[in-house]
Amino acid sequence: MQQPVRIAPSILSADFASLGADIETITNAGADWVHVDVMDGHFVPNITIGPAVVKAIRKVTDAPFDVHLMISPVDPYIEDFAAAGSDIITAHIEAGPHIHRTLQYIKSFGKKAGVSLNPSTPASSICHVLDIVDLVLVMTVNPGFGGQSFIDGQLAKISEIRQMIDATGREIDLEVDGGINPQTAKQAISAGADVLVAGTAVFGGNDSAGGYAEKIQQLRGG
Ligand code: DX5
Ligand code: ZN
Repeated sequence: MQQPVRIAPSILSADFASLGADIETITNAGADWVHVDVMDGHFVPNITIGPAVVKAIRKVTDAPFDVHLMISPVDPYIEDFAAAGSDIITAHIEAGPHIHRTLQYIKSFGKKAGVSLNPSTPASSICHVLDIVDLVLVMTVNPGFGGQSFIDGQLAKISEIRQMIDATGREIDLEVDGGINPQTAKQAISAGADVLVAGTAVFGGNDSAGGYAEKIQQLRGG
């Protein structure tokens, strides 16, 4: 069942010189989750945040940390991200041959486990992990950078995965990441998404606290 929309601003687009303050600002402005983009310069062509940063920002808020691992290999780092205070840990199905084991491993730390799909990966690739995942993350850009354009062709995949999730009868979040703005948010929600990641749409441009609240509300469809 599609749940009420939650907004997960990606701190990739925040000001890294004032990360703690930016996180406080967005959570006070109504952000539901904090999306943390972890990149290794190998699985994706960019390097970002490690467990030490997750641990440091954990002190700033109780909001759920939605940690998106764009790294390969992934298993050697899960324990550190769990210990650092992640609430949801998402790994890419393309990051290795053993996503089922990775998801079980994430859950062994008492964390929610997510699986993510790159734009070229078919919905059917996750059908045999839907019995254990808590979240499916559909990439609507090629992962690696903020500020890219939403790939429209992914809408059909979001609808397909919505049907697959509903057929399980399990409570699984369907999250969409990349190129989300008020227009694409509406399309993604219509296709069945219930968690929206947004970097540029939340942190780009305007800066006042009221501005953030308004931008987050617009993404929710309000
Ligand atoms: C892309 C990241 C996204 C990205 C979203 O690799 O996973 O979370 O930062 O940024 P926008 O919303 O700017 O597309
Ligand atoms: Zn992400």
